[in-house]
Amino acid sequence: MQLVLMGLPGAGKGTQGELLSEQLDVPHISTGAMFRAAIRSGGPLGAKAKEYIDRGELVPDDISIEIVKERLRQDDCARGFILDGFPRTVPQAIALDRALPELGKALDAAVNIEISEEEAVRRISERVICSQCGATYNRAHHPELDGRCAECGGPLVQRPDDTVETALHRLKVFMDQTHPVLTYYAEQGILVSVDGERPIDQVFQDIVAQLEKIREAQRRGEAAR
Ligand code: AP5
Ligand code: MG
Ligand code: ZN
Repeated sequence: MQLVLMGLPGAGKGTQGELLSEQLDVPHISTGAMFRAAIRSGGPLGAKAKEYIDRGELVPDDISIEIVKERLRQDDCARGFILDGFPRTVPQAIALDRALPELGKALDAAVNIEISEEEAVRRISERVICSQCGATYNRAHHPELDGRCAECGGPLVQRPDDTVETALHRLKVFMDQTHPVLTYYAEQGILVSVDGERPIDQVFQDIVAQLEKIREAQRRGEAAR
């Protein structure tokens, strides 16, 4: 399956992307995580991306489009993929629509994880990530971690763009630049929305159920041909 995960900062795209990746056995591709990995490794891409990310602005479209196109050409995407945080602008969505036929693929669904702005700010301010491996935690859910990553023992830190001020700016950027992408997919008839303000497992079960419906409709469509 080829999926796009959408939603406000903090909606749970990364959390659900990891779970869906295991369930569907396809890679979870987060452009934000790719940029953060590039920043950690210290190359020119990371330096360029950091200028924008730390201010809560979007990285320019040409850079984001290029890293995604290159990633989708890798062998592990042959069976499908879950994109998280891309596309974030209408030009990115158009670029994806142009790139997929070359790979013999089409999007099955854009899943919109809905939360309120208040919930987004709460979750962002409670989030910590591992400065070594990038694993994400909610501080409020994991008081036992005591500042260390459960995966690798690395120190847990706040993302530089997770201050309240920058988070509020990211919400504005979402409404201005990313919200139109929801309309774009709604017009294509592939947008599905889930209530993201429930426990992680319930949100996951809801997404899985909606994807099963889509698959069923695709099977009926194929059988009718
Ligand atoms: P990115 O890393 O994609 O950030 P984002 O979209 O702002 O989303 P987040 O990662 O903040 O939230 P999420 O939805 O993944 O939530 P999570 O699962 O972590 O992008 C960062 C930056 O990179 C952008 O601002 C931009 O500069 C740049 N960028 C990236 N892609 C780009 C592109 N295509 N074009 C241009 N620029 C781009 O969950 C949040 C917290 O809540 C966690 O602590 C989690 O444990 C917790 N949580 C999750 N689900 C639940 C639940 N159901 N109940 C309670 N807590 C929950
Ligand atoms: Mg994320
Ligand atoms: Zn770690």
